[in-house]
Order: sequence, then structure tokens, then C-alpha cells
Amino acid sequence: MILIISCSHHPESRSRLLANAIDKAVIALGNTTHFLDLRTMPLPLCDGHSTHENREVLKARALVKSAKGILLSTPIYNYGANAITKSFIENTGPSWNGKPVGMLCSAGGKGSYMALMPLVGSLMLDFHCHVLPRHVYALTNQFQEDRIIDTELQERITLLASDICWLSQSLAERQVIK
Ligand SMILES: Cc1cc2nc3c(=O)[nH]c(=O)nc-3n(C[C@H](O)[C@H](O)[C@H](O)COP(=O)(O)O)c2cc1C
Repeated sequence: MILIISCSHHPESRSRLLANAIDKAVIALGNTTHFLDLRTMPLPLCDGHSTHENREVLKARALVKSAKGILLSTPIYNYGANAITKSFIENTGPSWNGKPVGMLCSAGGKGSYMALMPLVGSLMLDFHCHVLPRHVYALTNQFQEDRIIDTELQERITLLASDICWLSQSLAERQVIK
């Protein structure tokens, strides 16, 4: 199962459109998915202590643990992933150990194109995630209302879907062989 996490609470979120599009692309490649819209999961802010017993936190951790690969789709806020994304990762931490991860984001301008790098570094160094080097970075003008209108963006989504399926399959096979 590939877990797709949509991290925006905006009612007309563009990163959610990216998450929906990659969900379809992963399914088209013959994989099962679980679509997690974080609007439906009221997680507490992590305090590193009492939140460990929270029911939603335990649910989130189990979901991450059971995934063969993870696709994270986030808005860019203040030159980084939004706080909802950060909070999800803080709450689920070690469940990410060794997971293959692909990233998608929607931004207001081109200038934030390196914005996901701190998160990528943290996932790699803290949790030894295999983060795909090519991520999807989408701009406002590549959407019209609730549609992706840019063919290059759609192609990048399809490519990322294929990359995460390949990587998660390869890692799963390697673990079986070991
Ligand atoms: C609080 C806030 C901070 C933002 N900061 C940035 C930023 O640093 N760089 C950028 O390119 N866009 C920034 N934006 C624009 C959003 O990334 C853009 O609207 C994106 O589509 C939001 O994702 P969503 O539609 O999935 O909610 C910001 C928007 C908000 C509301």
C-alpha cells in the first residue's frame, strides 16, 4: 500500500489536487493506495511526551508503519512545508524508518523551490528514509479552479508515481532477499 498524505486544510487546496492526481497515477500502475486527508485527522501538537498515548497519533503511526511507500503533498508556507506537515511528522517520527518517500508541493512563487530541503534532510538523517530526488513543485498558474491544466506538471506527477512504485517494490524485494 502506498500512503498518500494530503497536508493542507485549505478548502480549495492545490496540493490536495496534486495528491488526488498522484493517487490516480499510482492506482493506474496497479498499486493499492490509502489517501489520508489530514483535515480528517485532528492530531495534537507534539510535546514529545503526553501525545504519545493520543488515539489519533497511534492511528497515524500505524498507518505510516504499514505503508510500503509514502507520498507527501504539502503547501509551502514561509519557505518550508506547512506546520500541519511538520506536526504529522513530529507525531509519527520513528514509524517513518527506512520508508521510500516522494514529495509534492504547491507554492505561490518560483523562489521557494528549495523549501522542502530541510524536511528531506530530516527524513533522511533522522529516519533513514529513501527520499526520491525528483519532487513535484507546482505553481498557482498550473491550475485552473479544481483542475491541473499544465501538461508538464501532469507528466512530473506520473513520473513521481512510477518512481515511488519502483523504489518501494525494489526495497521490499531487497528486504525479503536479505
Ligand atoms: C501563510 C502562508 C505562507 C506562504 N508562504 C509561501 C512561501 O514562502 N513561498 C511560496 O512560494 N508560497 C507561499 N504561500 C503560498 C502557498 O504556498 C500557495 O497558496 C499554495 O497553493 C498553498 O497550498 P494549498 O493550496 O495546498 O493550501 C504561502 C501561503 C500562506 C497562506
